[in-house]
Amino acid sequence: MSVLGATTVSASYGSQKVLDGVVVSDIQPGEIVGVLGPNGSGKSTLLRALAFKGKGGGGKVKLESDGPIAERSVYMPQSLPSPSPLRAYELLASQARALGDNLSAASLHIQISDVLRGLGISELAMRPMSELSGGQRQLIGYALAISRTPDLLFLDEPTSALDIRWQLRLFENIRRYVSDNRAACLAAVHDIGLAARACDKLLLLSNGAAVATGRPEDVLTEDNLAVVYGVRAHTYQRSDGALGIEILGSENE
Ligand SMILES: Nc1ncnc2c1ncn2[C@@H]1O[C@H](COP(=O)(O)OP(=O)(O)OP(=O)(O)O)[C@@H](O)[C@H]1O
Ligand SMILES: [Mg+2]
Repeated sequence: MSVLGATTVSASYGSQKVLDGVVVSDIQPGEIVGVLGPNGSGKSTLLRALAFKGKGGGGKVKLESDGPIAERSVYMPQSLPSPSPLRAYELLASQARALGDNLSAASLHIQISDVLRGLGISELAMRPMSELSGGQRQLIGYALAISRTPDLLFLDEPTSALDIRWQLRLFENIRRYVSDNRAACLAAVHDIGLAARACDKLLLLSNGAAVATGRPEDVLTEDNLAVVYGVRAHTYQRSDGALGIEILGSENE
C-alpha cells in the first residue's frame, strides 16, 4: 500500500497563490522523492502542506488525495535547530518524553544511542547544541526527525549545511531508514547532482507549478534546466549508469 496517494496541492498566502494544483504522484514504501526548484518556487510550502495535511504551517491549503496520506509523518524544517544550551542527548530524550514514549531510562538510552551511532555522530551526544557547528546541529535535527519513526519523512533541505561527505552519508542513512521501516521520504534539495544520485523520483517546481515529475533522467533534462533555472547544462549517462550533469554556465554567459 502506498505511503502517500497521488495528491493535488494548492496553497496561497493571503491573495498570493504559491502552489497551483501541483500533483505529487503516489509514493511507495522505500521511495525517496526529491523536490527541486528555484528559490521561492514553493518547495517548503508543498512539504508543509502535506506534512500538516493542510492544517498549520502557514497559508491556506487545498489538498485532494486519491489515497492515504501517511498517519505518522514528520517535517524537518529548513531552519537549523536552535543553538540552545541543551545537550543533543537531552534534546532527543525530551522529545521522546514529550511524545509520551513510555520507555524505561535504559531503553530510551539504547534508542538514542542507536540513532546517533547509525548516523556516525555518537560523539556529539553530550555536547550542548550551542557549541555545535551548523552542520552538526543539522545532523541532530535529522536524528530528532527519524527518532519519531515516521512513515513519511518530510525533509526540507536536510543537507544545506553539510559538507560533501556528510551529504552522501545523510542520504545513505535516509535510504536505510526508509528500507528498514517501510517508510518513504519527500525531500527538498537544491543540489541537482545529489538529488539525481540519491532520489528515486523527482518533482521539479517552477513558480508554484510542476514542470516535470518522474525519474531523474526524465526530469533533469537540458531543456528543463534551461527553462527552470536559466542555466546551460550538459547531461549524460555516467559509466555506472547514473545521470551525470555538468553545468556549463548561465544562459547569459
Ligand atoms: N509565511 C509566508 N507568508 C507569505 N508568503 C510566503 C510565506 N512563506 C513563503 N511565502 C512565499 O511563497 C513562495 C514560496 O515559498 P517557499 O518557501 O515555499 O519556497 P521554496 O521553494 O522553499 O524556496 P527556497 O528554496 O528559498 O527555500 C515565495 O514567493 C515566498 O515568498
Ligand atoms: Mg524552502
